[in-house]
Amino acid sequence: MTDQGAFDTNAISSAVRKAGIAHLYGISGSTNVTGDQVKKLDILSNDLVINMITSSFTSCVLVSEENEKAIIIEPETRGKYVVCFDPLDGSSNIDCLVSIGTIFAIYKKATDDEPCEKDALRPGRTLVAAGYALYGSATMMVISTGQGVNCFMLDPAIGEFILVDRDVKIKARGKIYSLNEGYAKYFDPAVTEYLQKKKFPEDGSEPYAARYIGSMVADVHRTLMYGGIFLYPGNVKSPKGKLRLLYEGNPMAFIIEQAGGLASTGLEPLLDIQPESIHQRAPVALGSKEDVLEYISICQKHAQKK
Ligand code: F6P
Repeated sequence: MTDQGAFDTNAISSAVRKAGIAHLYGISGSTNVTGDQVKKLDILSNDLVINMITSSFTSCVLVSEENEKAIIIEPETRGKYVVCFDPLDGSSNIDCLVSIGTIFAIYKKATDDEPCEKDALRPGRTLVAAGYALYGSATMMVISTGQGVNCFMLDPAIGEFILVDRDVKIKARGKIYSLNEGYAKYFDPAVTEYLQKKKFPEDGSEPYAARYIGSMVADVHRTLMYGGIFLYPGNVKSPKGKLRLLYEGNPMAFIIEQAGGLASTGLEPLLDIQPESIHQRAPVALGSKEDVLEYISICQKHAQKK
């Protein structure tokens, strides 16, 4: 896979790997020892992704987590794709060197009309491709074009992504639950009931392990590899949770479902939501099919009581 095919994640990976050094000289938008202005890593990543896509002549509309409005590409460099992305997800983890990542979702423009923001407001079910790059102990790119999920590892010696896992499938049931339990005070009763079942199983099985990194890419990748469930539910304070549908929920749901898992809000499939605005949030529950189905059944039971 070449650099361009790899969504320029090689360049972002390289910037992430150097950030520790850069930090000493002012990673946070200040001036470094040579007097150069140093950009924050998330801003730098955003610029890299936008420049790469624009210069590839493939796309016409871009939605980035970093930009309030959709970017409409100039007619001379336009192509037929609409790309939604989070250039550097998990940015609160940058300064403590915990894994972060880049997430992307790609649609084919549905009409011949002049490109506009509305072109990105389509259910995730109509995506033609989605994936993420994880800058962890190594850099891995996970991608699906709708025919299963493939994983590519960056070999820094040659600057290429090598196919290491073909047609990855997620376990039908896992042994891990993953969410920010610090918000328990604000949880919906359905979430509280589900977690109680995982910690104190009534069928004599072992309790689940808890894992939470706080970088969606890293938490979802672990879920894909080991099985289990990742949750960012809505709560009393933010009914739709925190994660953004277009460039967090949908691409991850696409990957997980292509790997044989499930992704839901708790009450409806994430991929079936008709987006109304480009930065809208959605509650997320994704992972092993049986784990997510169990969560859904508890959510449905509570919804009927309301
Ligand atoms: O949306 C950005 C993000 O950093 C995700 O990568 C991650 O899953 C989530 O926020 C963590 O949020 P919180 O700190 O509320 O658990």
